[in-house]
Amino acid sequence: MTTQPRILVARRIFPEVVQRLAQHFEVQANDADLAWTPAELAAQLADKDGALTTGSQRIDAALLAACPRLKIVANMAVGYNNFDLPAMTAAGVLGSNTPDVLTETTADFGFALLMATARRMTESEHFLRAGLWQSWSYDMFAGAEVHGSTLGILGMGRIGQGIARRGAHGFGMRVIYHNRSRLAPELEAQCGAQYVSKDELLAQADHLMLVLPYSAQSHHAIGAAELARMKPSATLVNIARGGIVDDAALAQALRQRRIAAAGLDVFEGEPAVHPELLQVPNVVLTPHIASATLPTRLAMANLAADNLIAFFEQGRALTPVHAPTLQK
Ligand code: GLV
Repeated sequence: MTTQPRILVARRIFPEVVQRLAQHFEVQANDADLAWTPAELAAQLADKDGALTTGSQRIDAALLAACPRLKIVANMAVGYNNFDLPAMTAAGVLGSNTPDVLTETTADFGFALLMATARRMTESEHFLRAGLWQSWSYDMFAGAEVHGSTLGILGMGRIGQGIARRGAHGFGMRVIYHNRSRLAPELEAQCGAQYVSKDELLAQADHLMLVLPYSAQSHHAIGAAELARMKPSATLVNIARGGIVDDAALAQALRQRRIAAAGLDVFEGEPAVHPELLQVPNVVLTPHIASATLPTRLAMANLAADNLIAFFEQGRALTPVHAPTLQK
């Protein structure tokens, strides 16, 4: 009898997905959802052929050196900045992600965060809950207009395009974007979006939405200098990754009202949040939940599982993020 590949499920996920995996593999799952240190993760993975990770487990050269059998890491996330891709390529370990299944849900959330930020929803709710609401006032929590305003999008992949369509076709916004590469004209027309330089984007956006992947190149893509170029009335929304915004510079810009408000779903060093961001009122803060609906999270878990099953049973993953030479 041939032995089944051994798989580690590194965080608690849907039990039905773990059961599906168990029909194909010998599975060890972190059902208690223990927060493993890198050394503990390496120890758990040392005898495994594959892993299902969630984006908060770092896969780097040190870990790979401790896991000689490892052949594939299937991330249950579209972002994969937890992968050291050159190290994985060098070790012949394939990485996969979960694109497409979360696009519309994440775009919905981006728009929700934009609306909450522009219309000061959490700030006004805190005021109400604190019992401070005495009477109607003509300018109480007056926010920024959303419909008809200019939406700037930095990063124009699938999620950026979903946000552009919502802005252009749902809210009659002028949509401008900046991206490493320009979209084809037909796609620009479908999204109702116009390509501009990063400087033009910063200067013209009434609402700036960040939807680009994190990398060394995008680290602090929005820092003090970029915030200084934005309109004082502008809002900034980050649903991409912590580290794309310099959170300390943003907290200062919000405190000084250099920009009007921000909405943040991701943070540098999360789950820690920069203490000054917790002190400023003009920021809406959510705990990295942009893809969090149960149907979408289930689709993500199933796609990560399908990547493992296709890789071990058909020799290729469904949504790989690179193409290492697989020698193992
Ligand atoms: C979530 O942040 C993801 O990358 O899927």
